[in-house]
Amino acid sequence: METVVRDLMTSPAITCASSDSLTEAARLMQGAGIGSVVVTERSKVVGILTERDLLRALATDGDADCEAVGLWMTARPDVLSPNERVDAAWSSLTAHHYRHLPVVSGDDLVGVVSLRDLMGVARIRPAAEASVDAPGGLEGVVVAETSVGDVRGQEGFFHYRQFSAIDLAEQRSFEDVWHLLFRGELPDPAASGAFREAVCRRRTLPPGLSSLLPVLAPLGTPLDVLRTAVSVLGGELGWRPTRDIGPDELEDQALVICAVVPTILAAVHRLREEKDPIEPRDDLGCAANFLFMLTGQVPTPLHARAIEQYMILTIDHGFNASTFTARVVTSTGADLAAATVAAIGALSGPLHGGAPSRALDMLDAIGTEDRAESYIRHAVEQGDRIMGFGHRVYKTDDPRSLFLRSVAESLGGPLVEFSRAVERTAVDVLSDLKPGRQLYTNVEFYAGVVMHTCGIPREMFTPTFATGRTIGWSTHVMEQASHNRLIRPSARYVGPPPPQRVPAQP
Ligand code: ACO
Repeated sequence: METVVRDLMTSPAITCASSDSLTEAARLMQGAGIGSVVVTERSKVVGILTERDLLRALATDGDADCEAVGLWMTARPDVLSPNERVDAAWSSLTAHHYRHLPVVSGDDLVGVVSLRDLMGVARIRPAAEASVDAPGGLEGVVVAETSVGDVRGQEGFFHYRQFSAIDLAEQRSFEDVWHLLFRGELPDPAASGAFREAVCRRRTLPPGLSSLLPVLAPLGTPLDVLRTAVSVLGGELGWRPTRDIGPDELEDQALVICAVVPTILAAVHRLREEKDPIEPRDDLGCAANFLFMLTGQVPTPLHARAIEQYMILTIDHGFNASTFTARVVTSTGADLAAATVAAIGALSGPLHGGAPSRALDMLDAIGTEDRAESYIRHAVEQGDRIMGFGHRVYKTDDPRSLFLRSVAESLGGPLVEFSRAVERTAVDVLSDLKPGRQLYTNVEFYAGVVMHTCGIPREMFTPTFATGRTIGWSTHVMEQASHNRLIRPSARYVGPPPPQRVPAQP
């Protein structure tokens, strides 16, 4: 029998009155472990209050004990019938960017259903929808199956394998998450130790690349130099096309590339400052070692962990442009270095990984809190993008941004307070000037703040992003190589109708 909303809804729905305080509503949500309360009057549905409304209310610094639910709820919400088919309910929620809807039978409230409830059973996109005319930017098109991870933009959730990436960043080390991606499982302590050793053994630069870096380092940005260095690495180590090697050889190459990228980048940074590169230290984890090789100082545990968490959060993120690029190149059978070089190129664009230093440049240009509104309003009015805001997939808060905001707050300092103020202003101005576009901070906004506070120079922001993301790219390369089919889409020709006579030579 077909699943209908009644089978999935939470019932009875938790309710409150519009005169109740936000604190009371939050308590109800927490007590029931749910993300919304339905607001009723004389048992009729008059509104719905969600976690998102609570967050908005909190952002205004209001007093949750005094603010009434009626002020923050969505009034007269759309409702679903308990007999509605799941796919129809799914379309209704996603089309309007709702995450919770009351379920009403006749006039009676019988439950509440959330996007998460529907997620488990509704196919997010039927494959047939993806088969013909793809929308611009391939938005929403499913182009492959993956077990690496996924992003659920409507929910503000992303995961690596079966674990929430945020939980992993909170609880595990970078190397353990790396192990999870490469081997498909989190390591036990023995496997974790062995994996760390395997990584450490591969951190040192091969001699040809090492001797070339002083020549390359001043010739472009650190990311440009990395792109060239990875190309040299693959050549020097004799990496063969993925099509000609087995999974073990490819995994070994992937370990090398991920271990060596931080060493390359730190060396490039120091050479650009006319300092000697620093050898990696086996007693330091990846993030601490990276900071050590950059600065020559062993970082404080607080700074090392902040950067480690940033690096965990940016390891992978669905079929973003650079990951897709890496898979397209792999699908031709090319080698791992070729796929990584292409991915670095894609990452370098400001619409992808090139934003964090620009977000910080913007904070500098704004200067003081009182100038934020006029600056942002003027920028948006003249068609500029506010760097660190907006996302193709997230139409709610980017969970990486929320996490990094809390990391930034734990680090403290005036820049953090200033960025919070600019964030609030920008969200308001964007919702005023770009209504309905759902523009919030993306990972890049607080990434810049965290990296700056931990002593990473601006030109190393996107390269630091690349250190973690190399693991995501490599994992996708391995997955693509293991079930490969050449990726070769089509385009619709829209030029002058052919065939036309070739004009004779004048
Ligand atoms: N500032 C102002 N307006 C914006 C912004 C922004 N940051 N982002 C989107 N918009 C507006 C667009 O102008 C457009 O408005 P319109 O409907 O009036 O034309 C609307 O929102 C939709 O924009 P699109 O470009 O269609 O959205 P898309 O999904 O293609 O873009 C992107 C996503 C590229 C990230 C965009 O939000 C952006 O340019 N942000 C700024 C750059 C940035 O922060 N990049 C880092 C991304 S995170 C990462 O890759 C790791």
